Amino acid sequence: MQKFIALAFVLVSLNLFAQPSPAETKDNLPTDYLTSAFHEGRRDALRAIMPDNSVMAVFAFPTRTFSNDVEYLYHQNPDLYYFSGYKEPHSLLLVFKDEQTDAEGNKFKEILFVQKRNAGAEQWTGKRLGIEGAKEKLGIPMSLNGNDFKNYNIDFSKFSKIIFDRFPEDIPNGFDKADLFDLIQQFKEKAAIPEQLSNQSKFDTRSYRDLTGQLRAIKTAEEKDLLRKAVEISCMGQNEVMKAVRPDMSELEIQGLHEYVHKRYGAEGVGYGSIIGSGENGCILHYMENTKTKIGTSMILMDVGAEYHGYTADVTRTVPVDGKFSTEERAIYQLVYDAQEAAFKTLKDGSKWSDASKAAMDAIAEGLVKLGIIKNKNEAGRYYPHGLGHHIGMDVHDRGSMSTMKKDMVITVEPGIYIPEGSNCDKKWWSIAVRIEDDLLITEDGYELLSHFAPRKIEEIEKLINQKSVLDNYKLPPLESGKKKGF
Ligand code: GLY
Ligand code: MN
Ligand code: MN
Repeated sequence: MQKFIALAFVLVSLNLFAQPSPAETKDNLPTDYLTSAFHEGRRDALRAIMPDNSVMAVFAFPTRTFSNDVEYLYHQNPDLYYFSGYKEPHSLLLVFKDEQTDAEGNKFKEILFVQKRNAGAEQWTGKRLGIEGAKEKLGIPMSLNGNDFKNYNIDFSKFSKIIFDRFPEDIPNGFDKADLFDLIQQFKEKAAIPEQLSNQSKFDTRSYRDLTGQLRAIKTAEEKDLLRKAVEISCMGQNEVMKAVRPDMSELEIQGLHEYVHKRYGAEGVGYGSIIGSGENGCILHYMENTKTKIGTSMILMDVGAEYHGYTADVTRTVPVDGKFSTEERAIYQLVYDAQEAAFKTLKDGSKWSDASKAAMDAIAEGLVKLGIIKNKNEAGRYYPHGLGHHIGMDVHDRGSMSTMKKDMVITVEPGIYIPEGSNCDKKWWSIAVRIEDDLLITEDGYELLSHFAPRKIEEIEKLINQKSVLDNYKLPPLESGKKKGF
């Protein structure tokens, strides 16, 4: 017994029993969500750049059918989450440039229309915040039920600008008479929105993307914290997979391991469908089927981003499954690496994204000519067919202009070379696909490489792949049903 206590003491002091520490309350809930002060600050920042005498309407995303009467896991419109913290569907936020006063003399700067509480519905689909919850937890005093919007007395004609995003065409008109369909119809009627919108009119869909893009492109301290975490978690997934990956694994199994590690660190999901492409499959830029049952010894391209409290990373690593890059794989990998480094060097507050893109393209084009894969540099687009990167944040392809880099932007830099079978070059290059994708925070005089936790250099990757994994001895029994012929 004493021996056991001593052993337990050693294990505890070595921290081997420790969980990976998502911040927790005594109810075992995370404590590091965005706060109501954050969302209020974002609304104030929006008001500061809204045109005079304007109102902005932000609608929830529609729910979508997955199967018969089953819906896809709901994902809130990031704009609505950003400005309110509200995560439920069938809702509408109105943000006013100037303080408003209603007939009873209540003063308010925004109104949030939420889903009405409903015990029956909540038993099936989960607790609703309701108006009391919205007031208390989101700090929005003028919170009303969605079915109050119809008769709510608001004179939209007095505003010089009514700003909203284009409405999706295919929103279902459900049984509930205060669902998103009805909120949009009522808004169109109340605000007298014409069928055809002109760019100059007071009904302004263009400013919606401009204003939200200006704000969302520059990350606050709270957003940087959550993005750092999402990116680090994604790197942990890459590292665990590099150690565990073996030729007899399937693409789905690799996907599962990434996503297990994300969840182990408290990430709720992924910011986009995980891309696990072995060999030729890596040439499909957004390959998400992940159906290959044995990945074999070629390289595997893994583009996976954990979503943590609403913020998504976007990290790609391409690694040789057998632990060693072949001569050709090494040449292409090094070229993509050099292109990424060339782009990195240009980046800082005030730099032009076009310079980063050109630096990467030039490096790839020169390298492909040198390797004899193309004859002229202007053919490089055939093997590098996408842009260099994008903002990340609440969307994986986040809102905002890329033309000039600004401090506190968080972006990806993701050059790649893809040589599908049958390409017009020596066969030895066929089916090689490499993308290296990192996430960077732009700073005053350069950048911070948020995804430095996962190795990028050839030697570092080979070293990690050859390390032991906890999965090395993890065997499951074969399925009984799998023994039947033809199954
Ligand atoms: N994962 C999608 C992209 O890299 O843009
Ligand atoms: Mn990306
Ligand atoms: Mn990606």
